[in-house]
Amino acid sequence: MRPRLETGGVRRQAFRLFDSIYEGFAEWRMGNEAVLGSSEQTPDGSEGTVDAGRRRFLTATTAVVGAVGVGVAAIPFIKSWNPSARAKLAGAPVTADISALAEGQRMVLEWRGQPIWIVRRTKAVLEALPTLDDKLRDPLSQNADQQPAYVLESNPELRSIKPEVSVLVGLCTHLGCAPEMVAEIRPEPFDADWKGGYFCPCHKSKFDMAGRVFEGVPAPTNLIVPPHHYADDNTIVIGVDPSQSGAA
Ligand code: FES
Repeated sequence: MRPRLETGGVRRQAFRLFDSIYEGFAEWRMGNEAVLGSSEQTPDGSEGTVDAGRRRFLTATTAVVGAVGVGVAAIPFIKSWNPSARAKLAGAPVTADISALAEGQRMVLEWRGQPIWIVRRTKAVLEALPTLDDKLRDPLSQNADQQPAYVLESNPELRSIKPEVSVLVGLCTHLGCAPEMVAEIRPEPFDADWKGGYFCPCHKSKFDMAGRVFEGVPAPTNLIVPPHHYADDNTIVIGVDPSQSGAA
């Protein structure tokens, strides 16, 4: 018994697809039944005669449909090869003018889709930071993944280039929530001996005003200090190290 050529099913599927894609194809097809043929099999189910023209038409149709399908499927991949202008912008350095930033204030920028906090710390906060070391998980910032080395050079407890100006990525290192800044030195419901810092209400992680994480909270590491440098006394460039800028 010879294998059956199931051309009827393929033909019907190709016609249905073309009918749905091309307006007017169904109408044209009806008017050309004589050329395309109306049946594939003889009543006894044997192969019957398959006209060479129809076979060529079916082969061409299947090839075109296949090519269209591959083309449609490839679009997202091809698009992904070209970085969008937005993606380029997201990686670009960001500049901040801190001349109007008063003591105790914070300004928030966006860099690479992340919030960047720039805080001008008060004298009282700076004096309190070294007193917290015993309560912290990594008081000297030995986890090198969390900050560039140059912010530890003058004083590792401050984690900043200038003592009073702190620059941090404002995302909790537990699950990425946005911690609240609670800058005043006063008893808080979550810490009776609070010296100012950041409190993440999601799972109650606490960080000091240098972004150092407390012991016994879910966040595993200090907040991240992003690469940055001072273009001049009041201009910070986020995303470029001092060594890359010539400002080192
Ligand atoms: S995300 Fe901050 S404590 Fe869980």
